[in-house]
Amino acid sequence: MPLTDQFRPFDPSAIAPLLLAWYGRAGRELPWRQTRDPYRIWLSEVMLQQTGVDTVIPYYLKFLDRFPMVADLAAAELDAVIALWAGLGYYSRARNLHAAACRVVADHGGSFPADLSGLQFLPGVGRSTAGAILAIAFDRKGVILDGNVRRVLCRLFALEQDPRSAAAEKQLWRWAEALTPESRPHDYAQAIMDLGATVCTPRQPKCPVCPLAVLCQAQARGLQHELPRSRQKKTVPVQTQVTLLLERDGRLLVRKRPLDGMLGGLWEFPTALVVAGQDPAAVARSLLAELGLPGDMREAGAVRHAYSHFKLDLRCYRVVVDDRLQVAESGESRWLEMAGLERLALHGAHKKVLALLASNR
Ligand code: ADE
Repeated sequence: MPLTDQFRPFDPSAIAPLLLAWYGRAGRELPWRQTRDPYRIWLSEVMLQQTGVDTVIPYYLKFLDRFPMVADLAAAELDAVIALWAGLGYYSRARNLHAAACRVVADHGGSFPADLSGLQFLPGVGRSTAGAILAIAFDRKGVILDGNVRRVLCRLFALEQDPRSAAAEKQLWRWAEALTPESRPHDYAQAIMDLGATVCTPRQPKCPVCPLAVLCQAQARGLQHELPRSRQKKTVPVQTQVTLLLERDGRLLVRKRPLDGMLGGLWEFPTALVVAGQDPAAVARSLLAELGLPGDMREAGAVRHAYSHFKLDLRCYRVVVDDRLQVAESGESRWLEMAGLERLALHGAHKKVLALLASNR
């Protein structure tokens, strides 16, 4: 659809000056805006995929403290990277981050490629992230279509279609390209992402202070609260699991998840899946038998945790294990005190279990 087919046609080149002027007045001070180092920009962009600015800032600073250069990250053990990532979610990002750092060092002598295809070749860097790095780090024209930009464009052009459809996706990229200026790509990239994050927000967009309101077709039609059209809400399946809080001599047993699966490399209390029709307590007892650690088992509450495709209902059982028992540790399982558990890279659901345990003590 050409731009002029829209309800209220406008010249796409009108957008950048309005946005840039607004950014000069209202842009946010963020830690990754004080650098042009591609390593730091790349790190921030990967962290900001699916995670908000407020959550990312402390992780970003801690990460750079530990790995100030891409070579430091490439030289690190994957376990250490995952441990620093614990709590940010979407852990494949951490694995890709490490793999990409290794590739930058091995294939590019430690310098990030300064072109779109070189950037997109790095694990975890898609078209939009590559565009963001190109614009922000190298001040080259890089087109961005992340969640914030997508929302801005859906409203600006009053896109009525499901924005996740293939046709809409193509159209959105065309619009994003048409609006991105040749000059000041760095500032434009930050500006459009900030507009989405602070003004053109998912709920309650702040149209009275929006620099694009005069051109916004959703605003002209009173559709700003309805667009983008949301996906039909799917009913999310609930999965039940049991977890054992095995306590012996003030220490609890934790195990590491296999590296190649979901939440790979993160730690958790021993856990088993409960399939429909099974009694959770019976599954917990058979897990206990499997571990060969006899003890008195009691219910200790439940936690809920949401993943992108299902919700977890995690039933906890506390077992005091006879401390005369000989129990082995290995690289994949450890008995740890509370302080050790708090430092460990437990995944999100089991961090909640730990909090439950602490509140019951
Ligand atoms: N979201 C994604 N990239 C961003 C950036 N550089 N600044 C603010 N929010 C962002």
